[in-house]
Amino acid sequence: MSDKKNIETTLISAGRKPRYTQGAVNSVVQRASSLVFSSVAEKKKATAGRAKGELFYGRRGTLTHFALQDAMTELEGGAGCVLYPCGAAAVANAILAFVSAGDHILVSGSVYEPTQDFCSTILKKLAVETTFFPAQSGEEIAQWLRPETRVVFLESPSSITMEVQDIPTLIATVRRIAPQAVIILDNTWAAGILFNALEAGVDISIQAGTKYLVGHSDAMIGTAVANARCVEQLRENSYLMGQMVDADTAYVAARGLRTLSVRLRQHEAASIEIATWLSQRDEVFRVNHPALPQSPGHQFWKRDFSGSSGLFSFILKEKLSPSALAHYLDHFTHFSMAYSWGGFESLILASQPEEIAAIRPVGELDFTGTLIRLHIGLEHPQDLIADLARGFARLKDLA
Ligand SMILES: Cc1ncc(COP(=O)(O)O)c(C=O)c1O
Repeated sequence: MSDKKNIETTLISAGRKPRYTQGAVNSVVQRASSLVFSSVAEKKKATAGRAKGELFYGRRGTLTHFALQDAMTELEGGAGCVLYPCGAAAVANAILAFVSAGDHILVSGSVYEPTQDFCSTILKKLAVETTFFPAQSGEEIAQWLRPETRVVFLESPSSITMEVQDIPTLIATVRRIAPQAVIILDNTWAAGILFNALEAGVDISIQAGTKYLVGHSDAMIGTAVANARCVEQLRENSYLMGQMVDADTAYVAARGLRTLSVRLRQHEAASIEIATWLSQRDEVFRVNHPALPQSPGHQFWKRDFSGSSGLFSFILKEKLSPSALAHYLDHFTHFSMAYSWGGFESLILASQPEEIAAIRPVGELDFTGTLIRLHIGLEHPQDLIADLARGFARLKDLA
């Protein structure tokens, strides 16, 4: 028998050291700005060990933060974890930690829109040049790498259009041609556990913990787990940028971890059932769910991921008029419209093809219909299918 724990077991035990739990099951919620020292010698010890788990000052974290950081480090197999007030802060600060004026960064052209905007506005202002490359590139990424490329930023699957990237090929090519580059992955869709980013060779795995880690749509947090090569620079730069999250939110994220695998399993099963049903509907041009063979990059998902979560999209054959789209979206029973995802509830959002084209700096779209993004929550999938069927009936009534 192997001694290696399965992920379900790691999720339960990770970060639950007696120092953090103090006799309880969960870590204490230690709210603090000031952490008081009882002697000069103790203050000296805290100062020396401030980046190594000694209680020093609130911005460096308390026992509650350390418990979550230890848990995330173990789960993602890193050398350390930095916490942020939200996922966008994790993205921005991970990039900022490694670039200087005159540097270049290479970013997958289908990343989350605010990540693109951060590169096009803040990095530009700092004289860091961004090149966006087609998400579905493999070895072709070589042509955009330069001696001054300091960061390669990936997100897989891509936001909204859900292309899965050939991450092993991208990493091997970057390491060969631009060994100085730090490879960062937005690993939010996989909740840090359906794709082992650090084991695959990524330097920093980021999550908008706002989504599946918290899992209940009631808190915001970002996490970045880094390998030994990058952790110190990431941690110290983020500290100087004042990045921290409150103890209550760190606690809520750690609590979310304990149920992550059961929630994900349900999100996965229901989303595949619904995606398969959608793929058989006449109204649908294509379903972009990484677990379905028709989805872009499905072969990479099958090779590299251990499962899928609940976020996917489908494209209608038709482009809906604004009034038809409102009539379709305004009357769902179980799907609400909201910009986030990863909670227990189902969500729906629509984008017209020109809106997607506007956030795709490279490449052409291969569809002309309206795109619908779904997050499948923990409701019974048959109730969600019935709701979606009523949505198609509404469109038919308009025709
Ligand atoms: C893929 C991805 N990364 C990052 C973020 C940003 O996370 P947050 O909303 O916590 O800032 C989001 C939010 O929707 C996201 O979808």
